[in-house]
Amino acid sequence: MKFTRNILCIGAGYVGGPTMAIIALKCPEYKVTVVDVNEERIARWNSDDLPIYEPGLLQAVQAARGRNLFFSTAIPEGIRAADIIFVSVNTPTKTFGLGAGMASDLQHWEKTAHQIVAHSEKSKIIVEKSTLPVRTAEAMERILSENKKDIHFEVVSNPEFLAEGSAVNDLLEPDRVLIGSQQTETGLQAAREIADIYSHWVPAGKIITTNLWSAELSKLVANAFLAQRISSINAISALCEKTDADVAEISFAVGSDTRIGSRFMTASIGFGGSCFKKDILNLVYICRSYGLEEVADYWEMVIRMNDFQQGRFVKKIIREMFNTIVGKKIAMLGFAFKANTGDTRESPGIFVAKKLLEERADLVICDPQALGNARKDLAGLDGNVAFETDPYRAVAGAHAIAVITEWDMFKKLDFEKIFAAMQKPAFVFDGRNILDHDRLFRIGFNVFPLGKPSLTHFR
Ligand code: NAD
Ligand code: UGA
Repeated sequence: MKFTRNILCIGAGYVGGPTMAIIALKCPEYKVTVVDVNEERIARWNSDDLPIYEPGLLQAVQAARGRNLFFSTAIPEGIRAADIIFVSVNTPTKTFGLGAGMASDLQHWEKTAHQIVAHSEKSKIIVEKSTLPVRTAEAMERILSENKKDIHFEVVSNPEFLAEGSAVNDLLEPDRVLIGSQQTETGLQAAREIADIYSHWVPAGKIITTNLWSAELSKLVANAFLAQRISSINAISALCEKTDADVAEISFAVGSDTRIGSRFMTASIGFGGSCFKKDILNLVYICRSYGLEEVADYWEMVIRMNDFQQGRFVKKIIREMFNTIVGKKIAMLGFAFKANTGDTRESPGIFVAKKLLEERADLVICDPQALGNARKDLAGLDGNVAFETDPYRAVAGAHAIAVITEWDMFKKLDFEKIFAAMQKPAFVFDGRNILDHDRLFRIGFNVFPLGKPSLTHFR
């Protein structure tokens, strides 16, 4: 088949893989190639054991792979053939040098820019898909314009808003697609070309075009606002525990105001994931670099509240279990940063596990998708950690259960059977408020929900 356009995506991760699978599925006349330096990742994208777990993803990949969707490690060849290049490499928080712990590490990003210059033989549109500091496109343009081949690169920002665990659905039915470009003739033409891709399945009213800098900054701001809502309700969960108010009732009562809305108001042990923390840190760093100290402090509090919430959860476990958990077996139900993904990046589970191990508890970690990552996250730590896919085996002989991830399977467990198999007194610390607390209490558990009165059998 003759394809009308060659699309390349550099970076076959949580964003590049699913995004390109859906573009290929919806645009059969385009050839879509996804490249990565990681050979193992590419081999898995070419198998039915995909490198990431995402509901509906395997079916989407299988429908397009080999037809107009290809995964490869041949980066120079891919760049040469491409008309449009999406760059979706990782942009983690910098761990060294200036801005360590705050700024975005743009080394992968810059490397791809140099690769694009080195291997291009014709003009192309370069699409920023990764989340980047505002005004990165300027740096990208400077690198790209240093070519002696008389070819033009138009840089467009098209940030991705998918959430893990619902990526396929988010891509198929996005709230909006954002495309930022220079407001020049070639910039606007490039934005139209990117909009053409999405218009295969996204209604025109949902495709928003802006200037380049607004698109870049909107992505950081969207994540900061979402994380701020979680930190806001988590802050209130601490107050609820002091006052016998119930945080779920507050979420419902407050969220019923249509000006506020109900989503992203579920109290938790804190938000995790690869993006919220890094993107807010990046926003804080940008604000400080412009001398906007108060603005930086304001957003930094969202992170501090998240650290407080995670710390509070662990302290409560220790306090309620009579101030010592040495040698006690604690079953952590869940390790992924949220349900329906195997991703554990920045998961509160990592923090909780490390702290419990420091207190010399024996841990059993149970998660349907994240045990491989959990093993890597906890490798080399002192202490007893076991990994178990079967929740009934995980809780056998345990003193306490700590719910870390809101997987559906945990809601449906037979808690009578579990209670019978546990040490007494048996404790449940529900970091996601997903269990039926009254029922657990009636069975005999001492129950510690988040932001709600605890239910204990102690006098
Ligand atoms: P990821 O780590 O899963 O994937 C990035 C991939 O890029 C890796 O496979 C890596 O090997 C590859 N890579 C790095 N340098 C390369 C190079 N020079 N050439 C070829 N490949 C290279 O990251 P991710 O979660 O997909 O995130 C990518 C970007 O998208 C980040 O900027 C992130 O902030 C943003 N984002 C992520 C999500 C999400 O839910 N994960 C959502 C929206 C936006
Ligand atoms: C988030 C955003 O939702 C996406 O729009 C964005 O594209 C993405 O970051 C990104 O830039 O990477 P993601 O991190 O995959 O997506 O998952 P979320 O659903 O946002 O959950 C993040 C964390 O917040 C999870 O740990 C989740 O459990 C927690 N959370 C979420 C709460 O604690 N309470 C809530 O009410 C909602």
